[in-house]
Amino acid sequence: MTHARAASPLASSPPVLGVLISGRGSNLQAIIRAIGDGRLAARIGIVIANRPDAGGLEHARAAGIPTAVIDHKAFGSRAAFEEALVARLTEAGVAVICLAGFMRILSPFFLERAPGPVLNVHPSLLPSFPGVDAQGQAWSHGVKVAGATVHLVTPELDAGPIIAQATVPVHDADTAESLAARILVEEHRLYPDAIARVLTCRWHIDGRRFVCE
Ligand code: GAR
Repeated sequence: MTHARAASPLASSPPVLGVLISGRGSNLQAIIRAIGDGRLAARIGIVIANRPDAGGLEHARAAGIPTAVIDHKAFGSRAAFEEALVARLTEAGVAVICLAGFMRILSPFFLERAPGPVLNVHPSLLPSFPGVDAQGQAWSHGVKVAGATVHLVTPELDAGPIIAQATVPVHDADTAESLAARILVEEHRLYPDAIARVLTCRWHIDGRRFVCE
């Protein structure tokens, strides 16, 4: 895999995270809280949004975290946009990149140049329901158990090695919205824990399995 690193535990202390967002940033807030509580031994070096109106930028600013807006619409090509992302992440000394509601597909160009492994949180039990509106897909499908997944990002959408998963029940009275809210609670617990795992265990990829030694 293009992004695989032999880099755990990571050398810098505390390791620097770069968080990429597109929207409200509740998972970013969960990461900020976990660092504040001492559950995640890391520092967020930069929060980058691809949309100037991403609500999460305010959470970052309120926490005193440097922010940047790198608007994909301002670039003539995906590679130029991704090159700007890589440059900003590298400049911030980032060792692990965390996608937190970042709604742009990242190409092999980015994954090969990123200054560390790229993690993503997705609101379904992958490999079920990749792509957009995963919670709505799960609800419409009528599954009785849903959940969230943290995985390594690879060129194939939502298909990288799974680091951690959490399940929630689906009730008959649920709507897609109530199910999404139940999943989000789990995302907020799962993502910081999974990041901590990547930072603290010596891990490798075996086939498509993420294995902590
Ligand atoms: C979260 O539910 C996250 O899992 C999802 O977007 C939401 C972002 O919320 N991500 C994806 O669907 C990625 N495929 P947030 O901005 O409040 O963290």
